[in-house]
Amino acid sequence: MRPPPPIRRLTPDDIAASAPSLACLLLDAVADGASVGFLADLAAPRAEAYWRGIAAATDGRVVLAADDAQGIAGVVLVLPYATEIQPHRAEIAKLIVHRRARRKGIATALLQAAEDSARGMGRTVLSLFTRAGSEGEPLYRARGWTRVGVIVADSLRPDGTLCDGAIYTKRLR
Ligand SMILES: CC(C)(COP(=O)(O)OP(=O)(O)OC[C@H]1O[C@@H](n2cnc3c(N)ncnc32)[C@H](O)[C@@H]1OP(=O)(O)O)[C@@H](O)C(=O)NCCC(=O)NCCS
Repeated sequence: MRPPPPIRRLTPDDIAASAPSLACLLLDAVADGASVGFLADLAAPRAEAYWRGIAAATDGRVVLAADDAQGIAGVVLVLPYATEIQPHRAEIAKLIVHRRARRKGIATALLQAAEDSARGMGRTVLSLFTRAGSEGEPLYRARGWTRVGVIVADSLRPDGTLCDGAIYTKRLR
C-alpha cells in the first residue's frame, strides 16, 4: 500500500506567494474540461487573481495542498458556513489534482485532511457540489459521501455545454 502524501495547510501568505502554482492547477483542470468554476478562456492572470482573493478572505476558510517535485500538485478548500444557524456546516470545494499527479492518492489524502480540518472546527455536516459524472464522484462515494440529488442543466462546462450538478453530503462523527 502506498503511503498517503503529506498535506499542508496554506497560510494567506503561502497562498498569495503560491498563486502562480495554484493557478496552474485551475488552468490544467479547465484545459481538461473539468467544472471548476471557469470557462475555457481562463488565463493565468485571472486564475492567479482568484487565489489572491482566497488569500484575502477572512471567513475562516482553510486551504490544504499537496506537493510534488514540480510544486503544488493538488488543493482543496474547506469553507465554513457563516450563518448563525449553521455553525456545524461546511462546504468542501475546489478539490483539484494536476493531471501530472493523478491516481496516486493525492485527492484521497486531501479529502481526508479536509474532513479532519472541518471536524477540528466543529463542522460536522459537510456538503459539496460536483459535475454529475465527474472523476470525483467515485472518490466521494468510496469515502462515505451520499449523493443527495442532481440539478439538471446546472452549469456550463469550460466548452460552454450544459451539464448536470450532483450534490453530496457527509456527516462526520
Ligand atoms: C477528481 C480528482 C480530484 C481525483 O484526483 P486523484 O488524486 O487522481 O484521486 P486519487 O488518486 O485519490 O483517487 C482515489 C480514487 O478515486 C477514484 N478515481 C479517481 N480518478 C478517477 C477517474 N478518472 N475515473 C474513475 N475513478 C477515479 C478511484 O476509485 C481512485 O482509486 P484508485 O486510483 O485506487 O482506483 C482529479 O481527477 C481532478 O482534479 N479532476 C478535475 C477536477 C474535479 O473534477 N474535481 C472533483 C470535483 S470538484
